[in-house]
Amino acid sequence: MTILASIEEMQAQSDAWRRKSFSIALVPTMGALHAGHMELVRTARRLADRVIVSIFVNPTQFAPGEDFEEYPRDLETDCRILREEGGVDVVFAPHLETMYPPTSNATKVEVYGLTDTLCGPHRPGHFTGVATIVARLLNICKPDFACFGQKDIQQFAIVRKMVKDLNMDVHIEGVGIVREPDGLALSSRNRYLGEEARRQSTVLSMAVTRAADLIASGVRSASVIEDQMREIIETSPLADLQYVEVVDGESLARVRELTPGRSAIAATAVYFGETRLIDNTFIPKVPD
Ligand code: PAJ
Repeated sequence: MTILASIEEMQAQSDAWRRKSFSIALVPTMGALHAGHMELVRTARRLADRVIVSIFVNPTQFAPGEDFEEYPRDLETDCRILREEGGVDVVFAPHLETMYPPTSNATKVEVYGLTDTLCGPHRPGHFTGVATIVARLLNICKPDFACFGQKDIQQFAIVRKMVKDLNMDVHIEGVGIVREPDGLALSSRNRYLGEEARRQSTVLSMAVTRAADLIASGVRSASVIEDQMREIIETSPLADLQYVEVVDGESLARVRELTPGRSAIAATAVYFGETRLIDNTFIPKVPD
């Protein structure tokens, strides 16, 4: 496993692989790696001959006041975890000044449509930061495949739309949510939770599971589903609800009634103190 920090070296390595007809899969991350990231690594390995994991805490996707400074950074531990997992050929871990030299890099990628709901209104500029860094990582790593977790389902949808709209020659692969035994979706931010908040944080997965159960049992009214999700989250005294929303699985637009045959997403974002957690359930096809 080689660790590269330079853009030119990363591009040269990918060029060399491509000349030998090796396929390449990229797993973009911000580090603080956990079992959710590892599931993406294993998916990447199944898809391609060579695997790159990028580790970069991208400042432009954090709003002022968010946790950019506090975000956990430990490249050594991350590399140890990846070595133990195996199957990773290159870790691309550029320095902040390499990706954002003081004098340049004003070009942004803005994906239209898909940002009016869910996290979009609550995190202005976030998805432009994500789309821009992902576009750059794709140009640097030149993968055939890039793997994204459905935990960040809006990010996944936005990256897919960017790739389609800009005719980027890469396949975007989605990976299901990896959870703790009690249901909490794994996240680098879970380590911020105190003991009591950690215990109560299961309300997110309980809420999205209830949404999936209601849809399976024939409920089609978004407000009925949202009310029940809200009720579950409000059983936690420490939870500060940001949103519960049921949206169309493709357009991410709010719906009043779910349409049989279409996909749907029920999602939530909840604060525990300063820590913001998200969760969702994706219904590939609302039953008749
Ligand atoms: P990060 O939060 O490190 O997540 C990296 C990838 O891991 C994302 O695709 C995310 O959806 C996936 N992931 C995280 N937790 C997961 C879980 N419990 N189950 C399945 N997949 C999970 O997302 C980012 O970084 C950044 O926005 C990035 C795409 C790297 C751009 O900066």
